[in-house]
Amino acid sequence: MAPRAVILDCDPGQDDAVAILLALASPEEIELLAITTVAGNVPLALTQRNARQVVELTRRRDVPVFAGCARPILEPLVTATEVHGETGLDGVSLPEPTLPLAAEHAVDAIVRLVMERPPGTVTLCPTGPLTNVALALVKEPAIGPRLAEIVLMGGAKALGNVTPAAEFNFWVDPHAARVVFESGVPITMIGLDLTHQVLVTAPRLERIRAIGTPVTRAVHDFLQFFNRHDTARYAIPGAPLHDPCVIAHLLRPGLFAGKRCRVDIETEGRFCRGRSVVDWWGRCDRPANALVLSEADADGFFDLLIERLARL
Ligand code: RIB
Ligand code: CA
Repeated sequence: MAPRAVILDCDPGQDDAVAILLALASPEEIELLAITTVAGNVPLALTQRNARQVVELTRRRDVPVFAGCARPILEPLVTATEVHGETGLDGVSLPEPTLPLAAEHAVDAIVRLVMERPPGTVTLCPTGPLTNVALALVKEPAIGPRLAEIVLMGGAKALGNVTPAAEFNFWVDPHAARVVFESGVPITMIGLDLTHQVLVTAPRLERIRAIGTPVTRAVHDFLQFFNRHDTARYAIPGAPLHDPCVIAHLLRPGLFAGKRCRVDIETEGRFCRGRSVVDWWGRCDRPANALVLSEADADGFFDLLIERLARL
Protein backbone atom coordinates (compact mmCIF):
# COMPACT_ATOMS: atom_id res chain seq x y z
CA MET A 1 0.00 0.00 0.00
CA ALA A 2 1.39 3.44 -0.92
CA PRO A 3 2.34 5.65 2.02
CA ARG A 4 -0.19 8.30 3.03
CA ALA A 5 0.80 11.87 2.09
CA VAL A 6 0.84 13.98 5.25
CA ILE A 7 1.40 17.63 6.14
CA LEU A 8 2.22 18.07 9.84
CA ASP A 9 1.32 21.55 11.12
CA CYS A 10 2.81 22.05 14.56
CA ASP A 11 4.13 24.29 17.33
CA PRO A 12 7.13 22.37 18.79
CA GLY A 13 6.87 21.85 21.81
CA GLN A 14 8.32 18.61 23.11
CA ASP A 15 5.21 16.58 22.26
CA ASP A 16 5.06 18.03 18.74
CA ALA A 17 8.73 17.02 18.40
CA VAL A 18 7.86 13.40 19.19
CA ALA A 19 5.07 13.55 16.62
CA ILE A 20 7.60 14.73 14.01
CA LEU A 21 9.98 11.90 14.94
CA LEU A 22 7.24 9.27 14.82
CA ALA A 23 6.24 10.42 11.35
CA LEU A 24 9.85 10.45 10.15
CA ALA A 25 10.37 6.96 11.56
CA SER A 26 7.47 5.57 9.53
CA PRO A 27 8.27 6.17 5.83
CA GLU A 28 6.49 2.98 4.75
CA GLU A 29 3.19 4.39 5.99
CA ILE A 30 3.76 8.14 5.90
CA GLU A 31 5.12 10.34 3.13
CA LEU A 32 5.80 13.51 5.11
CA LEU A 33 5.32 16.21 2.47
CA ALA A 34 6.08 19.11 4.78
CA ILE A 35 6.32 20.32 8.33
CA THR A 36 4.56 23.65 8.70
CA THR A 37 4.99 25.63 11.88
CA VAL A 38 2.76 28.07 13.74
CA ALA A 39 2.99 30.22 16.86
CA GLY A 40 1.65 28.43 19.90
CA ASN A 41 3.65 26.80 22.67
CA VAL A 42 6.37 29.37 21.94
CA PRO A 43 6.63 32.17 19.34
CA LEU A 44 6.98 31.25 15.66
CA ALA A 45 10.71 32.11 15.53
CA LEU A 46 11.22 29.27 18.03
CA THR A 47 8.66 26.74 16.74
CA GLN A 48 10.17 26.87 13.25
CA ARG A 49 13.71 26.61 14.67
CA ASN A 50 12.72 23.71 16.94
CA ALA A 51 11.12 21.86 14.03
CA ARG A 52 14.31 22.20 11.96
CA GLN A 53 16.44 21.02 14.88
CA VAL A 54 14.25 17.93 15.36
CA VAL A 55 14.32 17.04 11.65
CA GLU A 56 18.12 17.37 11.72
CA LEU A 57 18.28 14.93 14.62
CA THR A 58 17.22 12.33 12.06
CA ARG A 59 19.26 13.69 9.13
CA ARG A 60 16.05 13.65 7.05
CA ARG A 61 16.93 16.82 5.12
CA ASP A 62 14.38 15.88 2.42
CA VAL A 63 11.48 17.15 4.56
CA PRO A 64 10.96 20.90 4.15
CA VAL A 65 10.07 23.07 7.14
CA PHE A 66 7.90 26.15 6.59
CA ALA A 67 7.04 29.03 8.91
CA GLY A 68 3.44 30.19 9.02
CA CYS A 69 1.43 32.56 11.18
CA ALA A 70 3.10 34.36 14.04
CA ARG A 71 -0.16 35.10 15.86
CA PRO A 72 -3.79 33.94 16.03
CA ILE A 73 -6.41 35.39 13.68
CA LEU A 74 -7.93 37.80 16.21
CA GLU A 75 -6.56 37.08 19.68
CA PRO A 76 -3.09 38.14 20.82
CA LEU A 77 -0.64 35.21 21.05
CA VAL A 78 -0.46 33.48 24.42
CA THR A 79 2.31 30.88 24.74
CA ALA A 80 2.85 27.92 27.09
CA THR A 81 6.44 28.41 28.22
CA GLU A 82 5.44 27.28 31.71
CA VAL A 83 4.95 23.82 30.18
CA HIS A 84 7.58 23.70 27.44
CA GLY A 85 10.24 26.08 28.75
CA GLU A 86 11.49 29.31 27.19
CA THR A 87 12.82 27.58 24.05
CA GLY A 88 9.86 25.25 23.64
CA LEU A 89 12.31 22.32 23.67
CA ASP A 90 13.78 22.78 27.13
CA GLY A 91 15.46 19.70 28.52
CA VAL A 92 17.84 19.34 25.61
CA SER A 93 20.32 21.62 23.89
CA LEU A 94 20.39 20.85 20.17
CA PRO A 95 22.84 22.41 17.69
CA GLU A 96 21.79 25.48 15.69
CA PRO A 97 19.87 24.08 12.70
CA THR A 98 21.64 24.08 9.31
CA LEU A 99 18.51 22.88 7.49
CA PRO A 100 17.27 26.07 5.82
CA LEU A 101 13.77 27.34 6.52
CA ALA A 102 11.72 27.09 3.31
CA ALA A 103 11.05 30.53 1.87
CA GLU A 104 7.35 29.95 1.13
CA HIS A 105 4.78 30.88 3.80
CA ALA A 106 3.26 27.80 5.42
CA VAL A 107 -0.27 28.80 4.40
CA ASP A 108 0.80 29.00 0.76
CA ALA A 109 2.71 25.73 1.06
CA ILE A 110 -0.34 23.93 2.44
CA VAL A 111 -2.51 25.26 -0.42
CA ARG A 112 0.12 24.40 -3.06
CA LEU A 113 0.81 20.89 -1.79
CA VAL A 114 -2.87 19.98 -1.51
CA MET A 115 -3.65 21.36 -4.98
CA GLU A 116 -0.62 19.62 -6.52
CA ARG A 117 -1.60 16.17 -5.26
CA PRO A 118 -4.59 14.16 -6.53
CA PRO A 119 -7.88 14.83 -4.73
CA GLY A 120 -8.37 12.88 -1.51
CA THR A 121 -4.72 11.96 -1.08
CA VAL A 122 -3.38 14.51 1.42
CA THR A 123 -4.01 14.28 5.16
CA LEU A 124 -3.48 17.41 7.25
CA CYS A 125 -2.25 16.77 10.80
CA PRO A 126 -2.36 19.89 12.98
CA THR A 127 -0.92 19.61 16.49
CA GLY A 128 -0.90 23.29 17.41
CA PRO A 129 -3.27 26.24 17.13
CA LEU A 130 -5.19 26.01 13.85
CA THR A 131 -4.23 29.42 12.47
CA ASN A 132 -2.31 28.14 9.41
CA VAL A 133 -4.95 25.55 8.58
CA ALA A 134 -7.84 27.99 8.88
CA LEU A 135 -6.15 30.61 6.71
CA ALA A 136 -5.30 28.01 4.06
CA LEU A 137 -8.98 27.01 3.96
CA VAL A 138 -10.01 30.67 3.66
CA LYS A 139 -7.36 31.54 1.07
CA GLU A 140 -8.18 28.56 -1.17
CA PRO A 141 -11.55 26.96 -0.32
CA ALA A 142 -10.89 24.31 -2.99
CA ILE A 143 -8.48 22.54 -0.62
CA GLY A 144 -11.39 21.64 1.66
CA PRO A 145 -13.07 19.06 -0.59
CA ARG A 146 -9.63 18.02 -1.91
CA LEU A 147 -8.22 17.01 1.51
CA ALA A 148 -8.56 13.37 2.54
CA GLU A 149 -9.10 14.42 6.13
CA ILE A 150 -7.80 16.49 9.03
CA VAL A 151 -6.50 14.51 12.02
CA LEU A 152 -5.81 16.98 14.80
CA MET A 153 -4.81 17.19 18.43
CA GLY A 154 -7.01 19.68 20.22
CA GLY A 155 -10.14 20.23 22.25
CA ALA A 156 -11.74 18.14 24.94
CA LYS A 157 -15.08 16.52 25.72
CA ALA A 158 -14.61 17.33 29.37
CA LEU A 159 -12.18 19.65 31.13
CA GLY A 160 -9.78 21.98 29.38
CA ASN A 161 -6.15 22.61 30.31
CA VAL A 162 -5.85 26.36 29.84
CA THR A 163 -9.23 27.15 31.37
CA PRO A 164 -11.71 24.69 32.84
CA ALA A 165 -13.53 24.95 29.50
CA ALA A 166 -10.83 24.99 26.83
CA GLU A 167 -7.77 23.12 25.59
CA PHE A 168 -4.68 25.15 24.65
CA ASN A 169 -4.68 24.76 20.83
CA PHE A 170 -8.34 25.76 20.53
CA TRP A 171 -8.11 28.44 23.23
CA VAL A 172 -5.14 30.22 21.63
CA ASP A 173 -6.98 30.61 18.32
CA PRO A 174 -10.69 29.84 18.78
CA HIS A 175 -11.65 31.57 15.53
CA ALA A 176 -9.28 29.34 13.56
CA ALA A 177 -10.69 26.26 15.28
CA ARG A 178 -14.21 27.38 14.36
CA VAL A 179 -13.22 27.84 10.69
CA VAL A 180 -11.80 24.31 10.63
CA PHE A 181 -14.77 22.62 12.32
CA GLU A 182 -17.22 24.46 10.04
CA SER A 183 -15.19 23.69 6.88
CA GLY A 184 -16.91 20.40 6.05
CA VAL A 185 -13.54 18.61 5.87
CA PRO A 186 -13.68 15.17 7.57
CA ILE A 187 -12.08 15.65 10.99
CA THR A 188 -10.69 13.25 13.56
CA MET A 189 -10.36 15.06 16.88
CA ILE A 190 -7.86 13.76 19.43
CA GLY A 191 -8.54 15.73 22.59
CA LEU A 192 -7.45 15.79 26.18
CA ASP A 193 -9.84 13.01 27.21
CA LEU A 194 -7.75 10.67 25.10
CA THR A 195 -4.29 12.15 25.53
CA HIS A 196 -4.53 12.06 29.32
CA GLN A 197 -4.63 8.26 28.98
CA VAL A 198 -1.15 8.13 27.39
CA LEU A 199 1.18 9.28 30.15
CA VAL A 200 4.97 9.45 29.98
CA THR A 201 5.49 7.35 33.10
CA ALA A 202 8.95 6.60 34.49
CA PRO A 203 9.04 3.01 33.12
CA ARG A 204 8.12 4.23 29.65
CA LEU A 205 10.70 7.01 29.85
CA GLU A 206 13.32 4.44 30.92
CA ARG A 207 12.45 2.24 27.92
CA ILE A 208 13.16 5.23 25.67
CA ARG A 209 16.43 6.03 27.44
CA ALA A 210 17.58 2.40 27.28
CA ILE A 211 17.56 2.44 23.46
CA GLY A 212 20.62 4.65 23.79
CA THR A 213 20.72 6.34 20.39
CA PRO A 214 21.29 10.10 19.97
CA VAL A 215 17.60 10.55 19.06
CA THR A 216 16.25 8.58 22.01
CA ARG A 217 18.68 10.25 24.41
CA ALA A 218 17.36 13.63 23.27
CA VAL A 219 13.74 12.45 23.51
CA HIS A 220 14.36 11.11 27.01
CA ASP A 221 15.93 14.38 28.12
CA PHE A 222 13.28 16.71 26.75
CA LEU A 223 10.40 14.49 27.90
CA GLN A 224 11.93 14.44 31.36
CA PHE A 225 11.60 18.24 31.30
CA PHE A 226 8.11 18.01 29.71
CA ASN A 227 6.96 15.74 32.56
CA ARG A 228 7.61 18.12 35.38
CA HIS A 229 4.76 20.64 34.83
CA ASP A 230 1.81 18.31 34.25
CA THR A 231 2.81 15.72 36.84
CA ALA A 232 2.81 18.49 39.44
CA ARG A 233 -0.35 20.21 38.21
CA TYR A 234 -2.49 17.07 37.85
CA ALA A 235 -0.76 14.77 40.38
CA ILE A 236 -0.33 12.10 37.67
CA PRO A 237 2.63 9.71 37.09
CA GLY A 238 3.60 11.23 33.74
CA ALA A 239 2.69 14.04 31.36
CA PRO A 240 0.08 13.29 28.67
CA LEU A 241 1.89 12.79 25.37
CA HIS A 242 -0.64 14.68 23.26
CA ASP A 243 0.62 15.19 19.73
CA PRO A 244 2.15 11.83 18.74
CA CYS A 245 -1.34 10.32 19.13
CA VAL A 246 -2.22 12.03 15.83
CA ILE A 247 0.50 10.16 13.96
CA ALA A 248 -0.12 6.92 15.88
CA HIS A 249 -3.75 7.08 14.75
CA LEU A 250 -2.57 7.15 11.13
CA LEU A 251 -0.24 4.22 11.75
CA ARG A 252 -2.48 2.04 13.90
CA PRO A 253 -6.06 3.35 14.17
CA GLY A 254 -7.05 0.28 16.17
CA LEU A 255 -5.21 1.76 19.16
CA PHE A 256 -7.99 4.30 19.60
CA ALA A 257 -11.78 4.37 19.72
CA GLY A 258 -14.47 7.00 19.73
CA LYS A 259 -17.55 8.06 17.85
CA ARG A 260 -18.78 10.58 15.33
CA CYS A 261 -20.28 13.67 16.94
CA ARG A 262 -21.18 17.22 16.30
CA VAL A 263 -18.43 19.54 17.58
CA ASP A 264 -18.88 23.31 17.73
CA ILE A 265 -16.27 25.81 18.87
CA GLU A 266 -17.18 28.62 21.26
CA THR A 267 -15.54 31.90 20.20
CA GLU A 268 -17.40 34.23 22.58
CA GLY A 269 -18.15 33.98 26.30
CA ARG A 270 -16.28 35.17 29.36
CA PHE A 271 -15.57 31.65 30.60
CA CYS A 272 -15.82 29.40 27.54
CA ARG A 273 -13.59 30.90 24.83
CA GLY A 274 -12.16 28.04 22.73
CA ARG A 275 -14.44 25.39 24.23
CA SER A 276 -15.05 22.40 21.97
CA VAL A 277 -18.74 21.72 22.55
CA VAL A 278 -18.90 17.96 21.85
CA ASP A 279 -22.46 16.68 21.35
CA TRP A 280 -21.51 13.18 22.55
CA TRP A 281 -25.12 12.12 23.20
CA GLY A 282 -26.55 13.58 19.99
CA ARG A 283 -28.75 16.16 21.65
CA CYS A 284 -28.55 18.79 18.91
CA ASP A 285 -29.88 18.53 15.36
CA ARG A 286 -26.69 19.69 13.68
CA PRO A 287 -24.91 17.02 11.58
CA ALA A 288 -21.86 15.25 12.99
CA ASN A 289 -18.64 16.85 11.74
CA ALA A 290 -15.92 14.93 13.59
CA LEU A 291 -14.80 11.51 14.78
CA VAL A 292 -14.02 12.25 18.43
CA LEU A 293 -11.55 9.71 19.82
CA SER A 294 -11.94 9.08 23.54
CA GLU A 295 -10.26 5.73 24.33
CA ALA A 296 -6.60 4.78 23.92
CA ASP A 297 -4.61 1.57 24.29
CA ALA A 298 -1.80 3.33 26.14
CA ASP A 299 0.55 0.33 26.27
CA GLY A 300 0.00 -0.34 22.59
CA PHE A 301 0.68 3.32 21.81
CA PHE A 302 3.98 3.36 23.69
CA ASP A 303 5.03 0.00 22.22
CA LEU A 304 4.53 1.47 18.74
CA LEU A 305 6.22 4.76 19.60
CA ILE A 306 9.26 3.12 21.20
CA GLU A 307 9.64 0.59 18.37
CA ARG A 308 9.61 3.43 15.84
CA LEU A 309 11.91 5.78 17.77
CA ALA A 310 14.47 2.97 17.92
CA ARG A 311 14.61 3.02 14.11
CA LEU A 312 15.93 6.60 13.94
O1 RIB B 1 -3.19 21.13 24.90
C1 RIB B 1 -2.09 20.39 24.43
C2 RIB B 1 -1.66 20.88 23.09
O2 RIB B 1 -1.22 22.24 23.18
C3 RIB B 1 -0.44 20.12 22.54
O3 RIB B 1 -0.49 20.13 21.14
C4 RIB B 1 0.72 20.94 23.01
O4 RIB B 1 1.88 20.78 22.19
C5 RIB B 1 0.17 22.33 22.85
O5 RIB B 1 0.32 22.71 21.49
CA1 CA C 1 1.40 21.10 19.92
